[in-house]
Parts: sequence; structure tokens; C-alpha cells
Amino acid sequence: MTNVSFTTDDFAAIPLHKIGCNDKLVADVFVKIGEKFIKFKEHGDFISEEKFNYFISKNVKELFVHVESKAAFETAVEEAKQEAIETLTEEIGEENRDLAEKQIDLREKIYETFLDEKLSNETVDLLKTQVDDFISAVKDKNPSADIFLKLTNMNNTIAEHSMNVANLSLLFGMVTGQSSSIVLENLYMGALFHDYGKAKIPADVIEKPNSMAYEKAIKNHPNAGVEFLKSLPNIPQPVLTIVAEHHEQFSGVGYPKGISGEAIYGLSRIVQIANAFDNIVFENRKNKAKMYTNAIKVLEYDKGKQFDPELLPRIIDCLKLSVGNFTREREKK
Ligand SMILES: [Fe+2]
Repeated sequence: MTNVSFTTDDFAAIPLHKIGCNDKLVADVFVKIGEKFIKFKEHGDFISEEKFNYFISKNVKELFVHVESKAAFETAVEEAKQEAIETLTEEIGEENRDLAEKQIDLREKIYETFLDEKLSNETVDLLKTQVDDFISAVKDKNPSADIFLKLTNMNNTIAEHSMNVANLSLLFGMVTGQSSSIVLENLYMGALFHDYGKAKIPADVIEKPNSMAYEKAIKNHPNAGVEFLKSLPNIPQPVLTIVAEHHEQFSGVGYPKGISGEAIYGLSRIVQIANAFDNIVFENRKNKAKMYTNAIKVLEYDKGKQFDPELLPRIIDCLKLSVGNFTREREKK
């Protein structure tokens, strides 16, 4: 970074969510630190996804360009977006153009909402639409579609729970700033198959919850799920990690490894919260008036124990705004 002395009048702010990562920059880009503008990227360079995520984590909302470059910069950003839509439309067919547009809008919308300091009903509704769109774009893709069909045939209750957890995990992921399609797809698959190992436990074992065999099978189900998924081609490592770690707890008292804090992969911590929430709601399902609020209370109570204390507040805000308002497979009946 180069330190340059300019005044505020020399610069125009560009909202972070408007700038695409990995797109060639058509002007020098600056960050504002205190009252100083520091050159961050040269014309012709690009901003990596990693850097974007760093900005998000530091709550950086705007980058800056020289005033005279603003119009050209905005035009280039819009052109890059249109180009991305065209490329994706070519891949998935003209009849799916609206899907391509939605997918390209996803990142922008997530950044936009993430940069809202306080969540509103409107923001949460927008994110839920993004979740629905994302799921309709990926649900028929393989290998996910095939594995999910197998899971449904093996154990429909677990399949429904898994769909709820996938839905919630995407919402929680987006609300905490995850916006890359690849990351979201890994999160979706990990959540969808987190209990695959549980579905494979034989009926005579699952029917005896007080037996040693039951306890052993439950303790081993994350590993059993990983073993099965590993036998298939093209399952990304983050998906395996999520399945392996979905019962680990932030304080280190989970299983099977008993790892704690940031040693647990970030996406696993999201799925773990979604899994616990859906299970608590299911246990309270007879009390329709209170099942969601009770589940939120349990999450709040366990902040920093079971659950990541940094992720949880925003997830709880999001749940409070969407309680009783999102689709859960188990409530459709
Ligand atoms: Fe599980």
C-alpha cells in the first residue's frame, strides 16, 4: 500500500458489495484509514476473494476511487456483472437466464445485507429468498441429488431434518457474510449429509437407546458418514469436514474428537448451530406456540459453551426475525 495525501473531495466512495472480486480494476482503488486515503490496488490489478472476506470481517463498507474515475469504474463494474450473467446463461441455457441473474446477484445481495449493522425483517426476507433460489439452483445437481435420494429412501425423517438443517445453514451462512457460491455449495452439501452415518445405523441398534451398541454407533456416526462420502468421487474436503465435526462443541466437550473453538472449521460451527436448533424445535413440536422461542432461548443459554459466541448473536437476531416464518419440512405436514 502507498500512502498518499489527498482530501476527501478528491475521492468517491464505492460500496464494497458493488465491486466484484477477481475482476480487473479500471482505476486505482483506495482504502480510508482515519482521515487518510491509502492506495490499496493499482489500476489493472484485482481484489482476491480472500481480501474481500477480510474486508467483510473488518466491517469495511466502502472502497474509494478518484472522483474523476468514478463513472468509468461503475460502468466497468456493471459490465463485468453482465458478462458474468452471459457466461453463466451460456452454461445453463437461455431458458434459465433468470436463474443466472439471481445467482450473480447473490454475492451483491449478501454483502449488502451483511453490511447492514442491524438486521431488519426486510433483510432477513431477502436472504430467505436467496436461500430458496440457491437451493433450487443446486438441488438437482449431482452428486447431491443422488445421495439425497438414497438418504430419503433409507430414512425419511433424517432426510427431512437434513433438508431443514441445509436450509438453516445457508441462511446462517449468508447472514454471517458467506457469499461465495463454492463455499455455500459446500455448506449446503455438508448440512444435507451431516447425518448420513446416523441413517446407516441398523434398526435393531437404534431401537435400543440405552444399549452400549447404540451409544457406540451414535458416537461413531460422524465418522461413518465421512467414510461413506469418501467412497464417492468428487466430494469436496470441506463437506467431509462438516460431516466429521457437526457434533463438536465450541467448549470442546463434543464428539468424536472433542476439539474446541476455532479448531472446529467455520462452516462446521454454522451447521452445528443449525442442527441443534432444528433438533430442539422438533423436541418441542407439540408446543407450537413456543417451539421456536424456546429453541432460541437454548441457543442463547449455550453461547460460548456449545456454540460459537461470535457467530451466535447475528444468527439469533436472524432467527428472531424469521421465527415461525421459514419453511421447515417437518411443519409442512
Ligand atoms: Fe448427527
